[in-house]
Amino acid sequence: MRSPWFKKISIVFGPRPPLNWLLLCVVIVLLLVALLGSSSSSALKSVTSVAKSDTYRKLKQQATNDYLELRTLSAGANRIEVSLCGKDRENYVPCYNVSANLLAGFKDGEEFDRHCEVLQDRQHCLVRPPKDYKIPLNWPTGRDVIWSANVKLSKDQFLSSGTRTKRLMLVEENQISFHSDDGTDDVQDYSHLIAEMIGLTSDTEFHQAGVRTVLDIGCGFGSFGSHLLSLNIMAVCVAAYELMGSQVQLALERGLPAIIGNFISRQLPFPSLAYDMIHCSQCGIVWDDKDGLFLIEVDRMLKPGGYFVLTSQISRQYGSSVNPKKGSMSTPIEEFAQNVCWNLLAEQEETFIWQKTTDALCYTSSRQKKVPLCKGEDTQPYYHPLSHCINGKNSKRWNPIQNRSSGSLSSTKLEIHGVHPEDFFEDLEFWRASLRNYWTLLSPLIFSDHPKRPGDEDPLAPYNMVRNVMDMNAHFGGLNAVLLEARKSVWVMNVVPMGAQDTLALILDQGFAGVWHDWCEPFPTYPRTYDLLHANGLLSHIASQGCSMIDLLFEMDRILRPEGWVILSDKLGPIEKARSLAIQIRWEARVIDLENGSDQRLLLCQKPFLRK
Ligand SMILES: *[C@@H]1O[C@H](CO)[C@@H](O)[C@H](O)[C@H]1NC(C)=O
Ligand SMILES: *[C@@H]1O[C@H](CO)[C@@H](O)[C@H](O)[C@H]1NC(C)=O
Ligand SMILES: *[C@@H]1O[C@H](CO)[C@@H](O)[C@H](O)[C@H]1NC(C)=O
Repeated sequence: MRSPWFKKISIVFGPRPPLNWLLLCVVIVLLLVALLGSSSSSALKSVTSVAKSDTYRKLKQQATNDYLELRTLSAGANRIEVSLCGKDRENYVPCYNVSANLLAGFKDGEEFDRHCEVLQDRQHCLVRPPKDYKIPLNWPTGRDVIWSANVKLSKDQFLSSGTRTKRLMLVEENQISFHSDDGTDDVQDYSHLIAEMIGLTSDTEFHQAGVRTVLDIGCGFGSFGSHLLSLNIMAVCVAAYELMGSQVQLALERGLPAIIGNFISRQLPFPSLAYDMIHCSQCGIVWDDKDGLFLIEVDRMLKPGGYFVLTSQISRQYGSSVNPKKGSMSTPIEEFAQNVCWNLLAEQEETFIWQKTTDALCYTSSRQKKVPLCKGEDTQPYYHPLSHCINGKNSKRWNPIQNRSSGSLSSTKLEIHGVHPEDFFEDLEFWRASLRNYWTLLSPLIFSDHPKRPGDEDPLAPYNMVRNVMDMNAHFGGLNAVLLEARKSVWVMNVVPMGAQDTLALILDQGFAGVWHDWCEPFPTYPRTYDLLHANGLLSHIASQGCSMIDLLFEMDRILRPEGWVILSDKLGPIEKARSLAIQIRWEARVIDLENGSDQRLLLCQKPFLRK
């Protein structure tokens, strides 16, 4: 006798109440929250570290800000300025405007880097899909076949229509198909080759050898990553912003993890000791440039005992084969590799594999002192300039990948991350319950007032209803963990916002994808790349950071595909404000009261398919 959870929910606002009345309610609630906030430490979970009086001051400030912002909203015809962007913004990624960067004085390659500071007025317009855009096919079909109108290809790529290109892509009529895993393809051979080179008999043994996460720099059309995913390895593609034929856009369109990132002047937004393998196949980076600075960045992100795999037509001149005498410093890259304590494991054809040392003392042995050790460890890692020194050596997380125990996180492991096991497992339990609720909500029926909402008799949303999920405030990665547990066919981009508890290393150590990000800025991805955006407590968090909720919602609209879903969970105040904005940017929106006695609310939204 199961009483469905959603029958218990009450939809808080049906027809819209007069705005003045609503305004008054919200302000009263906010003030109450503010007053109670000084005595209740749970009132603002995301800023628990702030002293009580400080919390009180902040909340009061916030209540005032919210009131003012709401009043602005209600002024005029209760509307913010919402227009549709022009056709030139169909594939718009903010912060990568080369001409604007050049005007701002960036040069020597830095004009291709991400520069959000150059972004002046953040235009509030809705990015529209290209003509002929179609909703992507569900996983796993969508991995191998995409709609060609959905991505922006270059002329060359289109010219290859009808023939199999080097990058294993076939363009037909309105579809692009990719090589599937049929056991006879080049990607699989390549993966086997790498496995053999690191001493395994097959690539199915990567896992046992400690390789669970791979950073794939410049992933082509994502086929290598797709193969690794099929081996249960989390492969994240990182590549530069490209105006056309973007590797990141293609990978995401196929439902493969990817993010825009550069090796130019700043570190990638990942912690030290993050990946088990870093892979570059013709990725276009000149590794011996800038005194090996890019190799030092690779070293920073690699876990001890991890592998750097380089495949390149020119890697022959990189490797030591030019001079067969072992250990001779014949080429710059080999010399750099030795300086950072990497061991050239194997070379074959155009592929070279180095292994990072497992011995932290290696860096201090006399032979290696050419690259100094960093003074502090990873103090301000986001937007940190590339460093000329070795990072991570003194980390408590220094543990060779070969020593990793299998199975779930142990208590000792959690304590290394500064997390109490009880907190972690309680959090997981909370997400188990939440996911069950969420999944019943993912139905357009939820927006209809009459005659019925989803009920017992309605089937649940299918397991592959969404593929690319972003948890915008991921905390321990609990939502990701329970989605996998429940065998949903998703991968999750776990975002750890700046200013929140830094749990990114813990997320990555669970074998998940994750990244640091400042939500006051746009996210480094193409439009329409996520199927579901989830954020618990993010609205309160960005308010405490002093950022604009309007900017945030427009950005969410940009990165969400048409008919994609949004689940926001927060306190009543921010949720009401977000609802008012969501409606103005034309999302379907519902506030859901969990009726458990708290002022926590869910805001469930769906983005419409705007065709013109
Ligand atoms: C890029 O910057 C230039 C110069 O500031 C500007 O004219 C142009 O509109 C910008 N492009 C986009 C897509 O924002
Ligand atoms: C890894 O395992 C090896 C063999 O069991 C052991 O000798 C070594 O001390 C371990 N290294 C670390 C850092 O735990
Ligand atoms: C009610 O549910 C919310 C979110 O689902 C949770 O954060 C909160 O702790 C719960 N409150 C109570 C009193 O159980």
